[in-house]
Order: sequence, then C-alpha cells, then structure tokens
Amino acid sequence: MSEKIVYVGISADIMHPGHINILKQASKHGRVIVGLLTDKAIASYKRLPFLTYEQRKDVIENMKQVYKVVPQETLDYRPNLEKIRPDIVVHGDDWKEGVQKKVRQQVLETLSNWDGELIEVAYTPGISSTQLINAHKDLGTTPDRRRSQLRRLLNAKPLIRIIETHNGLSSLIAEDIEIEDEKGKHSFDGVWSSSLTDSTAKGMPDIEAVDPSSRANSVDQIFNVTTKPMIYDSDTGGKPEHFSYTVKNLERLGVSAVVIEDKIGLKKNSLFGTDVAQQQDSIEDFCNKIRVGKNAQVSDDFMIISRCESLILEQGMNDALTRCRAYLEAGSDGIMIHSRKSDGKEILEFCSHYREFGAGRPLIVVPSSFDKITEKEFEDAGVNIVIYANHMLRAAYPAMYKTAKSILENKRAFEAREFCMSIKDILEIIPGTKNA
Ligand code: SPV
Ligand code: MG
Repeated sequence: MSEKIVYVGISADIMHPGHINILKQASKHGRVIVGLLTDKAIASYKRLPFLTYEQRKDVIENMKQVYKVVPQETLDYRPNLEKIRPDIVVHGDDWKEGVQKKVRQQVLETLSNWDGELIEVAYTPGISSTQLINAHKDLGTTPDRRRSQLRRLLNAKPLIRIIETHNGLSSLIAEDIEIEDEKGKHSFDGVWSSSLTDSTAKGMPDIEAVDPSSRANSVDQIFNVTTKPMIYDSDTGGKPEHFSYTVKNLERLGVSAVVIEDKIGLKKNSLFGTDVAQQQDSIEDFCNKIRVGKNAQVSDDFMIISRCESLILEQGMNDALTRCRAYLEAGSDGIMIHSRKSDGKEILEFCSHYREFGAGRPLIVVPSSFDKITEKEFEDAGVNIVIYANHMLRAAYPAMYKTAKSILENKRAFEAREFCMSIKDILEIIPGTKNA
C-alpha cells in the first residue's frame, strides 16, 4: 500500500513547539505536504507575518518531517484540498472556535468527498503566541525591513489602514492596538507622519516651518519604539535640489513612502481649501520634482507618492485627472487624492476614473472631511490606502485642555481626576517602566 498523503496548513512565522508537535504527529500518518499560507492568506484575517513567504518556506521545507511545501493562497483550504486530495488533514484543535471555525467545517465537508480524515492535535499548553509576538516586537526591526513592509502590505491586502502618530506614545498605541471580530484580528498597518500634527504637537503652524531635521527627530522617536512602516508627509517637498536629500534621508531612516503635494509658495494646510491663498505648481515643474526624487532614490522599495490638490483648490475633476496622469507618467509610484468636501462624492468619482489609468499604482485617500465613508466603500472604489491623518492629536488635545481648565477653576487637581488615567496606569503603560 502506498504511503498516505497528509496535508498541514500552516503560517510558520514564529515556529514554536506546538507547530513541531503538529508536524511530528502528521508525519506518523504518512508523507506531509505543508500548505504554507501566503502573505495574502494570512493578512486576510490577521497581521502580516514578520517573515516573508520565501523566508518561511526556507524554514519549513528544511524540517525533516516535511515532504513538500506548496503555497496555500487563501485561508480557505478547499482549493488545495481539491487539488491534492489528501488522505488526512492534521490541524491543532484550537480552530474549533473563532475565525477558523468555518474553515474547519469546510475542511470536514471536503474531506468527506473522498473519505478523507481530519486529525486534530491537542493544543500544546504553556505557549502564549501573544507573548511570542511581543518578544518579536521587542527585538525591534531594521530600516531595510521596515521600509519594505509597505510594498509587502500592498501585495498582501486590498486595503491598508494607516493612522497618524506624532510621538512615541501615540505610536505605541498604533503599534499595539488590535480588535477581534468574526472576520479575524484588525489592527493598523502603519503610521502617517503628518505635517499638521507634527507641527501642531510642536506648537508650530503647518507651513513648512518645522525644518526637516526636527521632523526627522520625530520619525526617530517613533521608530525607536515601533516596528510598523511609515508614510511621511513632506508637504511640497521643497525645492527639487532639497527634495533629493529628503528622499535619501527618509530611506536611510527606514520610511517606506514620501508624499509630496503639488503646491508652491507658502504652503498652508489643505483643509483651508480656498479660504486662504494657495498656489498649485505647474505640471511640468512638479513632474520634474518627481523625477529628481526618483533619481535620488537608492533602494528599490521606497515610494514617491504625488498628492494632487486640484479638488481642494476647486480646479475641477478634469484638472485632477490630467495632472495625476502626468504625475504617474513622470514616475510617481502612486497618487494621493485629497478633498475637503464632506460627502466624499468627488473622491469616489475620482476613484472610478483612476481605475482606467492608475495601472495598479496605489491610490491613497485621507478621509478627514469625508469621514462617513467606510473602509469597505473605499476598498470597493479601488482605494489601496486609507490614512486617518490627524485623529490621535485631535483626540488628545481636548482632554489636556479640559484638565488644565479644571485645575484653574478648582484650584486643585481632584476634579480633573475623571479626565486622567490613574497614576498606577501611567506607571504601567510602558512595559519595563517598573522592572527595567
Ligand atoms: C497632514 O496630515 O498634514 C496632511 C493631511 O497633509 S491634511 O491635513 O488633511 O491636509
Ligand atoms: Mg500635511
């Protein structure tokens, strides 16, 4: 009788004795074919793995229990099972609840078509994957690894979710916060270094008055305590001669993408729209700046994104489309389209046109004004990245203001207690404060 075929679906990102136990048990029953989940399959229900598919494949195909590794492109096992028709599927018994419950049911139904068997291995006690993930985060990252993350995410996820952070503490929230529902785990994919909030946090106006080294200090502070990728708001990018240095600096730090907007002169925040004097750059000069940036770029994975201000400055849809076509032709890696209209209609209209000429290059939106549009609606419209560009700072300021006012009014801090976290909590909020 020929040896049985045993199928094991696995992510193999952080391998631990629980995985080894599953592979050992599987190999007792026959030849083990590992369905290695691709980045896309994993990102469909939880965070992107630390290791790339190729790295994970290298680890798993060198394990003695493994006969062969094939990609598993979806969390759904059925496509691979139909192809391979294994005699047995082996999985840990921890998938009876949660997001994989449905997947398990589908596996059982599919196997019954050829009398296949599901063997479930008892969960190995004493292993906390959360602890392992935290240990991994504690290790930190390198500029190269961090920078390449955004392109990996773009390949793995239909919609990337980015949030503004402006210091170490707000960035720790973006790094760690995670919620879970029936579709899986949800977290932020990366951070936005906003010119508005970085300036505001420094008590400065958003007019390019905070110089690049001060901005770089903020980036450094954020990178010191996080591992996620960053998209950096470089305002107008300055003069082309200066922009080439900015590009190299950001790459060296490990920033994944820079956004420059097509304005000249004294830059004012876009959300003022036409309430203040703002001037758009000529297509020719802005395209030149894009080319200068692309020529300065050292790494393959860094991206230069062009931000079009035509809708903000009420120049009309055609102007926006003409400009964005030209920016892409000049070598821009993607487009950020901005609007301050609250219904989001012009943004969605732009998206429908972008599909025709965007050539798969990422489209970014910043729903500060049109905040009723959901991520699903953006995704359906073909948006690749959503940036929540200022919410962390806008949330923090009112709490600080209320607290300061209450102390003044009451001549003591007692009444402000309700606006503040407890002393115990602030002492424990950062791991290591007590037991460093
Ligand atoms: C920023 O966050 O600084 C931006 C986005 O440029 S916006 O403020 O919406 O113009
Ligand atoms: Mg800005």
